[in-house]
Order: sequence, then structure tokens, then C-alpha cells
Amino acid sequence: MTDQTQVTWHDHSVTREQREQQNGHRGCVVWFTGLSGCGKSTVANAVDIGLHKLGARTYLLDGDNVRHGLNAAPHMLAGQHGDEFAERFGLGFSDEDRVENIRRIGAVAELFAQAGVIALTAFVSPFQSDRDAVRQRLDDARPGDFFEVFVDTPLEICEQRDPKGLYKQARRGEIKNFTGVDSPYERPTNPELVLQGGELTPDVLADRVIELLREREALRL
Ligand code: ADX
Repeated sequence: MTDQTQVTWHDHSVTREQREQQNGHRGCVVWFTGLSGCGKSTVANAVDIGLHKLGARTYLLDGDNVRHGLNAAPHMLAGQHGDEFAERFGLGFSDEDRVENIRRIGAVAELFAQAGVIALTAFVSPFQSDRDAVRQRLDDARPGDFFEVFVDTPLEICEQRDPKGLYKQARRGEIKNFTGVDSPYERPTNPELVLQGGELTPDVLADRVIELLREREALRL
């Protein structure tokens, strides 16, 4: 099939550097990864609050929310768009769908970074190659703007917490391909930060993330 789509990249009149100068921080991506229930969203929210108080421009992209819109499940799309469309563009939790989930979120996070915003993302993102692909895209534009933060909470603790009751359903076989149960989670090989999610409070962990951004000179506020 020949690709007949012609798209041209347009440079922006307001540069990224001008936006960053005004904001007092770099546009960058803080990518939280870890099992369901590990505390990613909670810590990311605490970072969001902390950075907002400092006057930073931030935005949190969260797994459950994004899966209601941009990456909605097939059944959410079928009513309005029909089954064929829903099958083609809707996303579930197969390996292939997770890859596409992260690719789309990576592209959105990159746009936020270009806009001078600190994009915080909280997705299981279980595959190293997908996280690396997002890192690579950001590095191609300007190295050092991708911060991979591994929320390393043991599976047993995530399973005890089970805030949505999903682990129980997965153990009963009612949900298939559940990360940590019958779908793999690849631990980050070289993350910028590892947080012990089972041991310290979300606020303490959030402070570590903000400290990291200062150390790497992403934040001057
Ligand atoms: S990812 O693997 O594609 O990165 P994402 O972060 O968007 O996953 O969504 C994970 C959230 O969806 C979990 O926190 C959980 O609430 C819910 N979920 C539903 N089914 C699954 C599943 N099979 N595996 C993991 N999470 C699931």
C-alpha cells in the first residue's frame, strides 16, 4: 500500500525555550510506571500538587482517565461509531493494545513537553521497549527530558490493597491478561528514580521526584 498522506512539520512562532523561560522550568515528562495499585497515581497526584504550589505548569495523564477518552475501550466506542470502528481504534489490555496505548500517550506527553509543561504520566506501561520508545522520541528532540520513575511496590502489597477489586477478579479468572497475574511486568532496567511504594508515604515519595527535577535542572522554582 502506498502512503499518500503528505504531512509537513511546522515550526512554532513561540519557541519552546521562550515558554520554558517564562515558566521557570523545562518542558519534560515524568513517566511513572509500576503495577496496578502500586501507588503511581497517588504519588503522581502529590507531585502535581507540589509542583503546582511552586507555580509550575503541570498536567497529569492518568491511566484510567485516558482510557475513558483518547484510548477508550471498544465497547465505549461501538454505540456511537459502530463495531468495525470500535474494533479498529478501541483499546483493551492485549499486548498489542498496551503497546498502542503507550504510543499514543507518549505522543501526547511529548506535545505537553514541547508546550513547556511538565507532563506527569501514570500508566502501568509494562513493557520496557514501549517506555524506551517514548524516551527515545524525547531524547531526539533534546536529551534529558524523560524521567522514568519506577514505583516499586511488591505485588503482594498491591494485591492486598486491591483498591478496585481487580486482582481478586483476575485470580478468579474473570479478568484475563492482568499485569502481575497472567500478563508480565518488565521492571525498568535503568530508571531515573526508584520509589519504594510499600514503605514510604506518597508525600515523601513525591518530594523525591521534585528533588530529582531540581537536581537535573529541569526545575528552577
Ligand atoms: S497499560 O498496561 O496499558 O499501561 P493502563 O495504565 O492504561 O495499562 O491501565 C491500567 C489500569 O486499568 C489498572 O490500574 C486497572 O485499574 C485497569 N485494568 C483493567 N484491566 C487490566 C488488565 N488486564 N491489566 C492491567 N490493568 C487493568
